[in-house]
Amino acid sequence: MRKLQEPLTIRGNTIKNRIVMEPMVTFSFHGDNGSFYGSQHIEHYTARAKGGAGLIFIQATAVSGAAGSTEKWSEENTRVLRQIADNCHEYGAVVMMQLACGDLDINELTLSEIHSIQQDMIQAAVTACALGFDGAEFHFAHGYTLCKFIDASYNRRIDEYGGNADNRTRILTEILPEIRKNTHKKFILGVRMGEYQPESRDGIASAKIFEKAGINILNISFGTKPPVQPVPEGFLCSSMTYSGCKIKKEVSIPVIAVNEIRTEEQVRFLIENDYADLVGIGKGMLTDPEFANHVLRSEPVNMCRSCKNCFWFTDHTKCPARKSILG
Ligand SMILES: Cc1cc2nc3c(=O)[nH]c(=O)nc-3n(C[C@H](O)[C@H](O)[C@H](O)COP(=O)(O)O)c2cc1C
Repeated sequence: MRKLQEPLTIRGNTIKNRIVMEPMVTFSFHGDNGSFYGSQHIEHYTARAKGGAGLIFIQATAVSGAAGSTEKWSEENTRVLRQIADNCHEYGAVVMMQLACGDLDINELTLSEIHSIQQDMIQAAVTACALGFDGAEFHFAHGYTLCKFIDASYNRRIDEYGGNADNRTRILTEILPEIRKNTHKKFILGVRMGEYQPESRDGIASAKIFEKAGINILNISFGTKPPVQPVPEGFLCSSMTYSGCKIKKEVSIPVIAVNEIRTEEQVRFLIENDYADLVGIGKGMLTDPEFANHVLRSEPVNMCRSCKNCFWFTDHTKCPARKSILG
C-alpha cells in the first residue's frame, strides 16, 4: 500500500509527500506600493509550505506582459514571486507557478495574436524558472482561453490550431522545445485540464498528446463544464475527482486528482488505493494552512464549511472557517 508520506520525484525534484496546494487566486489580497503581489502573498504561501504541503501551485498568473516584463512581470512583482519561491523551498515544498492566458474567444484570434500569446507563454515559463520556481503549469482548465483550444466543441478554427487533437493542443506543444531550451534540466512543466472536452475521449486524447510532447505532470480539474457522471460505488470523492483517476489510467506521468477533498479519509483513500499520484487541495488549504501536516499526523483539520459562494472570491476575511483559525 502506498503511503501519503512516500516521496515522488519529478525531473529530479523530490516532492516529500502526496499533498498538493492547488492554484487559487487570492482575490482580496493586494500588493505593496501599487504592485499586484506583495507581503500578503508571501505570508500566505509561506504558511502553506510551513504547513507541510509537498507541492504548491502559485495562483493563476496571466502570461500577458511576460515578454516585456510589464504587468504581473514587473520588477516589484517578480521580487515578491522570487521571495515566495525561496520561502517555499525553505520549508521543503516543491513550488510551481500556474500560467494563464485570460479568457479570449479563440475562434476570433488571428495567427499573429496566437503567436504573440505563445511568446508570452514562453517568456512567462522562462521567467518563472529564473525566479527559482521548480516548474510551471499551463492553465488549460475551467473554460478559459487555453481550455477553449482543446475543447473539440468550442474550437472551430480551420487552421493548424483547430481540427484534430494534435492541432487543438498545438498552442503549447509547439513551444515546449523553446521553453526546454531556455530552462534548466529539472524544470517541471505541467498542464491543468479537464477530462470532458466535451467528451471524455477528447480530454484523454489531449492528455496523451501533452504527455508525448514532454509534459511532466497533469492536474485534472474540469474543462468547460464540471462533470456530472456518476462515480463507482464506494468511491469516496466527487465525479471531478474521479476524472483525475480515469486520466491516471491513460498516462504514465503523475496525475493530481482534486475537488472537494476535505478529509484525511478521502486523501488516504485516493493515495493508498493508487487512484491518483497526488491529491490536490483547494479551499481546504485556505481554511487550514496546516492541512497537510494535520492529515499526515492524523490530527483534526480546520475544514472548509462549503459556503455556497466562497468568500475567498470576494473578501477572505469573511470566510467563517478562517475566523476559527484566527480565534
Ligand atoms: C478562491 C479560489 C480561487 C481559485 N483560483 C484558481 C486558479 O487561479 N487557478 C485554477 O486552476 N483554479 C483555481 N481555483 C480552483 C481550485 O484550484 C480548485 O480546483 C477548486 O477550488 C476545487 O478544489 P476544492 O474543492 O479543494 O476547493 C480557485 C478556487 C478558489 C476557491
